[in-house]
Amino acid sequence: MTTLTASDHNPDDLRRREGPVFMSGNLPPDVPEVFDARYGAALDAVLTRRSPSRLIGAHQYRGSDRDRAAGAAFTARRLGTTPAPERVVVANGTQSILTQLLSGLVPRGGVLAVEELTYPTIRTFVSMLGIDLAPLAMDGEGIDPDAFEHICRTRRPAALYTMPTLQNPTTGTMGDDRRRAIADVCRRHGVSVIEDDIYSLLPAAAPPPLSVYLPELSWYVLGTAKSIAPGLKVAYVVTPDAESAKARFWPGVRSTYWMVAPINAAVATGLVEDDGATAIIDAVRAETHARHELVTAALDGIGHRTTPESLHVWLPVPPGRTAADFAAAALAAGASIGTSATFYVGDDTAPETVRFGVGAPPDRGALQRGLTAIRHAYHH
Ligand SMILES: Cc1ncc(COP(=O)(O)O)c(C=O)c1O
Repeated sequence: MTTLTASDHNPDDLRRREGPVFMSGNLPPDVPEVFDARYGAALDAVLTRRSPSRLIGAHQYRGSDRDRAAGAAFTARRLGTTPAPERVVVANGTQSILTQLLSGLVPRGGVLAVEELTYPTIRTFVSMLGIDLAPLAMDGEGIDPDAFEHICRTRRPAALYTMPTLQNPTTGTMGDDRRRAIADVCRRHGVSVIEDDIYSLLPAAAPPPLSVYLPELSWYVLGTAKSIAPGLKVAYVVTPDAESAKARFWPGVRSTYWMVAPINAAVATGLVEDDGATAIIDAVRAETHARHELVTAALDGIGHRTTPESLHVWLPVPPGRTAADFAAAALAAGASIGTSATFYVGDDTAPETVRFGVGAPPDRGALQRGLTAIRHAYHH
């Protein structure tokens, strides 16, 4: 067996150690000291328990019974009660669930309501599917309920895609009342909700999902990419009822790309069952906290928005400068960061704000170098 060293890097590796520090992504920090042992144990247990050919030899449209039961237990961490496993679909990541839901819930030419600053991939998916976007004005807690009410009356969206907890990119979190208010607008106008709760497992205490207030119209999506590992490629969706799970995720829709690789699902199931998932999430949270101490020190005197459990920071650039210029200055100083234009789908101009990841640099030393570059870009 070949032993890899730090210099045997893959040029596609986002966490490579040379060149500018990669901070435009918002990956969870690497926690090999916990992850490797827990993932290895779960993988060993799967291979001991099951014949690999039995495991991998057949398609699993919505995940095996055991995988869906694990998905029910995993999503119960947020939902507060355990959904019936028949309502759970195990898929190969959040993006697959999103394309499958968007194409099923919003007709071609129909309208999807979204936060005016949103996950950029949504733009790619709606253009692929011929869906129009209705951007929603936001305040510090996310979607403004009055603006949403207005859009429901004037544009009649079929669905809302939202991230109520640690919103990407603004890091805002809706309080309980805001969640109820948005659920209420959806109910009155018959708008389905796709709730992407991917950042919600790092905060030790986050308000219950919006879906709790609107179970009959909600598709609650909880991926593992931001709390366990981006390459695990396992995400769960809790559907309004068992029938809709079958209707949206079955081969009759003539595609099967959302299906999880059975080995990945089985390892994720093992991690849920033996609590390895909790150990990894706790380690990711602890490392994120530690990294935020460096962020707080580096951004002393610089206005910004984040929380100790956020994987990224949202930073308005100094008056008179543009986000693009600021990002170019940060790159020249040694950090690659993102700008608001990537996230903005509104009708106005994007705010002059940049976003940078805290977990993406390979270690705290690299993060510190990146933060120094950002501070330099801010002051020069
Ligand atoms: C809001 C949001 N949803 C989903 C994803 C990606 O999830 P997955 O890799 O499981 O498709 C990301 C990654 O950046 C994200 O920010």
